Amino acid sequence: MNIALIGYGKMGKTIERIAHQRGHTVVCIIDVDNLQMFDSEEFKSADIVIEFTSPSVAEHNIRKCFARGKSVVCGTTGWTERLSALKKEIDEQNYTLFWSSNFSLGMNVFFALNTYLAKIMNKFPSYDIAMEEVHHTHKADTPSGTAITLAESILHEIDRKTVWVDGAARNPNEVSIESIRTGDVPGIHTVIYESNVDEITLTHSAKSRDGFALGAIIAAEFTLGKKGFLGMNDMMKF
Ligand SMILES: NC(=O)c1ccc[n+]([C@@H]2O[C@H](COP(=O)([O-])OP(=O)(O)OC[C@H]3O[C@@H](n4cnc5c(N)ncnc54)[C@H](O)[C@@H]3O)[C@@H](O)[C@H]2O)c1
Repeated sequence: MNIALIGYGKMGKTIERIAHQRGHTVVCIIDVDNLQMFDSEEFKSADIVIEFTSPSVAEHNIRKCFARGKSVVCGTTGWTERLSALKKEIDEQNYTLFWSSNFSLGMNVFFALNTYLAKIMNKFPSYDIAMEEVHHTHKADTPSGTAITLAESILHEIDRKTVWVDGAARNPNEVSIESIRTGDVPGIHTVIYESNVDEITLTHSAKSRDGFALGAIIAAEFTLGKKGFLGMNDMMKF
């Protein structure tokens, strides 16, 4: 598979290394200093584009790819409020976008466990629910896209919770998300159910960025030849 990378930061570099290990060719790398490469022969030769940049530019980059007939796998987080309008356009125009807030295969098992646990805990109102996420100090968005995905599943399943909040909860209907920024932590997410008598915690801890990069490349392999808006549930088939 010929891959074009947009964004050559921490994730872009990890994806390049793992793509080579899986026998793929990175034919084009675009970052802020060579945006003209969107119109290059190298970009044209890509079978698929993988985009990991920043929240303010991801949608614009995706649209540039669509305009050039390319399917995109995007892992950039922090712009989900614009995703539903884009999804509609993708369906209407027959574009292809695979987006996930977290490409780690283990985290997607965690997503399924989180939903399953929330379904059970809906019947146990004596437990309050809170979340914590820890990331490196350069992360642009707070809370993390992954934490928001986890929180939204909880809100979907738990009748007594209607909204997530960034920081401490003030009302019983709120799920608090505490964000901690420290060192070079690739990502730790914890969901906590606490009653007066005990505590149940689910934690996923990424050891490095390799798991995200591997998941993004497997997603690119999966996306090849498909149309529409795709996500990890389509690929992992829980
Ligand atoms: N979905 C996942 O599994 C997952 C995992 C890790 C990180 N992320 C997200 O991926 C994104 C990138 O993370 P990172 O750690 O690589 O960040 P980073 O800051 O190390 O790299 C971002 C790169 O994008 C480049 N960039 C900025 N604007 C650009 C533009 N207009 N065109 C092309 N390149 C541009 C920057 O110069 C930089 O090299 C973030 O949103 C992060 O939250 C997602």
